Amino acid sequence: MKIKKICCIGAGYVGGPTMSVIAQKCPEIQVTVVDLNEARIASWNDADVKNIPIYEPGLSEVVSEARGRNLFFSTDVEKAIDEADMIFISVNTPTKTYGAGKGMAADLKYIELCARQIARVSKSDKIVVEKSTLPVRTAEAIKSILDNTGNGVRFQILSNPEFLAEGTAVEDLLNPDRILIGGDTTDEGQKAIEALVEVYANWVPKDKILTTNLWSSELSKLTANAFLAQRVSSINALSELCEKTGADVSEVAKAIGMDSRIGSKFLKASVGFGGSCFQKDILNLVYIAKAYGLHEVADYWEQVIIMNDHQKRRFANKIVSTLYNTVSGKKIAFLGWAFKKDTNDTRESAAIYVANDLINEQASICVFDPKVSETQILSDLNYLNSRNPDENRNSISVLDNPYEACKDSHAIAVLTEWDEFKTYDWEKIYNEMQKPAFVFDGRNVLDGKKLTEIGFIYKGIGA
Ligand code: NAD
Ligand code: UGA
Repeated sequence: MKIKKICCIGAGYVGGPTMSVIAQKCPEIQVTVVDLNEARIASWNDADVKNIPIYEPGLSEVVSEARGRNLFFSTDVEKAIDEADMIFISVNTPTKTYGAGKGMAADLKYIELCARQIARVSKSDKIVVEKSTLPVRTAEAIKSILDNTGNGVRFQILSNPEFLAEGTAVEDLLNPDRILIGGDTTDEGQKAIEALVEVYANWVPKDKILTTNLWSSELSKLTANAFLAQRVSSINALSELCEKTGADVSEVAKAIGMDSRIGSKFLKASVGFGGSCFQKDILNLVYIAKAYGLHEVADYWEQVIIMNDHQKRRFANKIVSTLYNTVSGKKIAFLGWAFKKDTNDTRESAAIYVANDLINEQASICVFDPKVSETQILSDLNYLNSRNPDENRNSISVLDNPYEACKDSHAIAVLTEWDEFKTYDWEKIYNEMQKPAFVFDGRNVLDGKKLTEIGFIYKGIGA
């Protein structure tokens, strides 16, 4: 079966970039990305492509090439479902905030709504692709909903998890390490897998397209994120030991990373990992393990989260203890708010938790981030519900100039590794700060030696 029309439900950080690249690479396929969020769709359709809702290097170029040709963004979900041969579900699957599994399990209500809508609207056979990250065996639930409509339409369900990282989404989509497609072992299942393989084969070498059964594919996604996050927590755990022993975590990371069995990537000590998925997916894995009675498995993975929470708190505590045990009334400048560089995404960013802890200590925070707005920063803090919105507004200010943000501050905390921070005039920043002038580099991005020569008291992570 050759796919002619694709519909993607969910125009977020995954649906938007993924479908833009499919449309760019497969001009003969019509790709329609739909979302309930009208403002988001309006931004994707903005005449000025610079205003698309997601900042990703290279994305606006891909969108301008394909949009209007074979890439469309729309709020008409039913029409797009009806017309498509293949439907990607790329909606959010956040951690549950209520009921059984609250704070751990993935909330699948948006997935189920999509399945029910597909079941209701479809008049012809379709392949439904899970693009969202889902608990293992979710395809079973989707299948049960789709197969019980009684309208005779036949559905095949595939799992095709997404491995892109934000900030490098376009590069990751163009040159993926692998594409994973899981499906039924029946003949129909294998044909559906083949149809999706052919879509990707337009630009991905076939030996990088891996096919498995549904459950292996679903579980591999959670496992990949758990392993990646585990590496960060492992090196962060060692960073604390380095600070006590005189070892330098960057040197340790380099030394172990040169062992080809360990590998050098994802060993950068930091103020803690953030992002919408690592925590959510590990909590989900822990919940699944517990549900099967595998308590040792659950405890093992939960430790990755416990370590990450400790690392964020430790960073805030270190600022307070170094500033003579009080930050009350002191100005602390934050360089960066996004959860990593080259994205405007702030979900679960370490900056939010560090700011919250420092505000509890009555610090006054001034933030500069090249891509994150004041509205977003305030909404992130308000989401924690630690105090009322007016108190948050009085405790934090957001400036669009880094020099102004740092001026008169007692300390600077680097929360995101934006490249531009390295290029600032650090002499000027030093001259305009309170003395002694402290820099807490939560990303080890600045040149500590140079900053110390200027006069700063520089504290990196793990040294
Ligand atoms: P997102 O919140 O940015 O986007 C999801 C979109 O789905 C929202 O715009 C929402 O309005 C829309 N939506 C929800 N229910 C809908 C419905 N019934 N009909 C139409 N639209 C609906 O989320 P995201 O970051 O794109 O993540 C989506 C999924 O992909 C999650 O499962 C996530 O775990 C996974 N994932 C994310 C990343 C990432 O880097 N963000 C990477 C790999 C996988
Ligand atoms: C991560 C995975 O890398 C993707 O493969 C996956 O598709 C995605 O999650 C997802 O499922 O959502 P992402 O969260 O976008 O991607 O970004 P990462 O580069 O993985 O960084 C995550 C966090 O870990 C960031 O806060 C980053 O600063 C931190 N990190 C990463 C470190 O502190 N040290 C490192 O060495 C690497």
